[in-house]
Amino acid sequence: TKNVAVLTSGGDAPGMNACIRAIVLACERAGYKIFGYEHGYNGLLHQEYRLLNNKVVHNLIQRGGTLLHSARCLEFKSEESARLAAANLEKLHIDALLVIGGDGSFRGAAHLGRFWKGQIIGLPGTIDNDISGTDATIGYYTAIETAVDSIDKVRDTADAFERIFLVEVMGRHSGFLGLNAALASASDYVILPELFVSEDKTVKDIVLQLNERREQKRKNISYIIVLTENLWPGGITALAERLTTETRSEVRPVILGHVQRGGSPVSQDRLLAVKLGCYAVSLIAKGSTGVMVGEQNGEAVEVPLEATWTQPKLLEKLSVETLETLMNNRYT
Ligand code: F6P
Repeated sequence: TKNVAVLTSGGDAPGMNACIRAIVLACERAGYKIFGYEHGYNGLLHQEYRLLNNKVVHNLIQRGGTLLHSARCLEFKSEESARLAAANLEKLHIDALLVIGGDGSFRGAAHLGRFWKGQIIGLPGTIDNDISGTDATIGYYTAIETAVDSIDKVRDTADAFERIFLVEVMGRHSGFLGLNAALASASDYVILPELFVSEDKTVKDIVLQLNERREQKRKNISYIIVLTENLWPGGITALAERLTTETRSEVRPVILGHVQRGGSPVSQDRLLAVKLGCYAVSLIAKGSTGVMVGEQNGEAVEVPLEATWTQPKLLEKLSVETLETLMNNRYT
């Protein structure tokens, strides 16, 4: 038999619990003992863990957040911390560690791998979808859903007042969430890091498009702009002020924020979570290590941990093409 440990690290994402459940059940089936480290890598440093079993994960698949809690552990970057974690894993005789998280978590996992001989397998969990080697990450689809639901509501009030709204979505430095939330909510304009040219061009495009609509004397010219966080110099307020001046109309900023991280996972995230969870456990017997599991074109794959952050992850081509068609090439 083997001893397996799992932890969730970095920004939590809907579907992490579904993934923990799948890992626990697959481990039990394989006859492995399964430990859950709490609070991300902090749990590894402080030997904070609990034994998991099918009873603990009952009624869990639909719950947002993470049963094991999560954290960003800056301290884990040091050699001393990685050595301490390795010693703690040895004490529990852990054979394989499964890490559910994003690229920061995978960097941490690779760092640990330099000091610990056990197997390390990553599972992509983040709403940002900014991990190479998998078409989607666990939590991404739910975050799109949440953002779309909020933007639909903003549309109601925007229409009522014929107002311009600026909606900031998460994504860290990637435009996946912004692009697909904008498409699915029929937003009028979207500002994404991958397609951003300049502040001036963006403002010029928006003003031009609004003027055209005014000239056409279109009824109901509510206008929604989706903005990816961490992109606009001076932030959303600076852009709202500039647009208010240049469009000569009030522009209301709305920051969706951490609402996008919560909620019950949609079925796409649950399915991705259970598939990748089971696949990761199946790799333990095979001896895989230093890899992340992902899904590419419907197939489960293993990719080297390092490739998940060194390879660029491109926006979905079909989404970008659709955006070009539906937004008249006027986007940045
Ligand atoms: O990576 C997930 C994420 O929600 C990003 O979209 C966002 O930039 C970041 O985490 C926010 O981090 P924190 O919760 O530490 O404020």
